[in-house]
Amino acid sequence: MARIFSGVQPTGNLHLGNYLGAIRNFVNLQKGNECIYCVVDLHAVTVWQEPKNLICNTREVAAAFIAAGVDPKKSIIFNQSAVSAHTTLSWVLNCVVRVGWLNRMTQFKEKAGKNRENASVGLYVYPALMAADILAYFATHVPVGDDQKQHLELTRDIAQKFNNDYDVDFFPIVEPLILEDAARVMSLRDGRQKMSKSDPSDNARINITDDADTIAKKIRRAKTDSEPVPDGSQSLGTVATRPEAFNLIDIFCALTECSRTEIMSEFGGKPFSEFKPALADAAITSLGPVGTEMRHLLNDPAEIDRVLADGANRARSISEPIIKEVHGIMGFLNP
Ligand code: TRP
Repeated sequence: MARIFSGVQPTGNLHLGNYLGAIRNFVNLQKGNECIYCVVDLHAVTVWQEPKNLICNTREVAAAFIAAGVDPKKSIIFNQSAVSAHTTLSWVLNCVVRVGWLNRMTQFKEKAGKNRENASVGLYVYPALMAADILAYFATHVPVGDDQKQHLELTRDIAQKFNNDYDVDFFPIVEPLILEDAARVMSLRDGRQKMSKSDPSDNARINITDDADTIAKKIRRAKTDSEPVPDGSQSLGTVATRPEAFNLIDIFCALTECSRTEIMSEFGGKPFSEFKPALADAAITSLGPVGTEMRHLLNDPAEIDRVLADGANRARSISEPIIKEVHGIMGFLNP
């Protein structure tokens, strides 16, 4: 049986991109696999988080998992900081990973921006913590989007180097799970940018907790051009020339699990004023119940905390023995 690990950062504004690209797949992966889903609060604080918000956002991610259909009895749902194995192993891996390897991480360069001197050291070693998340459970598979591929590759390199350095066959080499139906959801205001929690315009994204009216309104206002819906012909453009139009089509595909060809044969050549209401319906049908259930769960934070506490206990029972072995391999005295 495969053991799957994935993490979502509690940094607020969970949106359609998080849902279609990650959380929805977590549900399907439960079939026939052992799944560990972590709210990665330690990763979140690599950039400043207001403590009050962090608590709410942590519960919100847990609620989103459950509302989407992750079964907390079957799968493990917990927050990273509650299980000390993550920080313990990340220190070890900080001593395995090379500065040169981290210097190649494109996400650090993007997130640190121009003022790299002022980025936290935590942001720099973020990928080693992510490797620790995965290796502390001997996870065999990690579902990844494009943006995390390089970090997963690094995790494999770190595991290999640890095994070589200590001459052991200890850490498994994790495999990426490239999900075919994982959608890349772009901003509703700019089809060349990913839908993002930090976009200053709330109209650029559909939040998981948006109600039906808000979803419909945001889709109505989504940027398009004056041409009709693409039909696949050259004359009605390509992703490169009409990114916003194709983004809406792709969102429709992901929501309804149809192909582009199917959607284009139904709507191609029609005006967007006809397509958008159908898209709004699809979004409301798919996301509406998740948002409703999330709001319901968040009314009882104590129950979410119970789920997280139970998950943390189960996570510890897997990771603690692995950490003990790591210590033994490295020659840490345990008097
Ligand atoms: N870095 C991931 C992201 O931002 C989150 C993450 C942390 C993660 N630890 C992980 C994902 C382990 C997969 C496995 O999306």
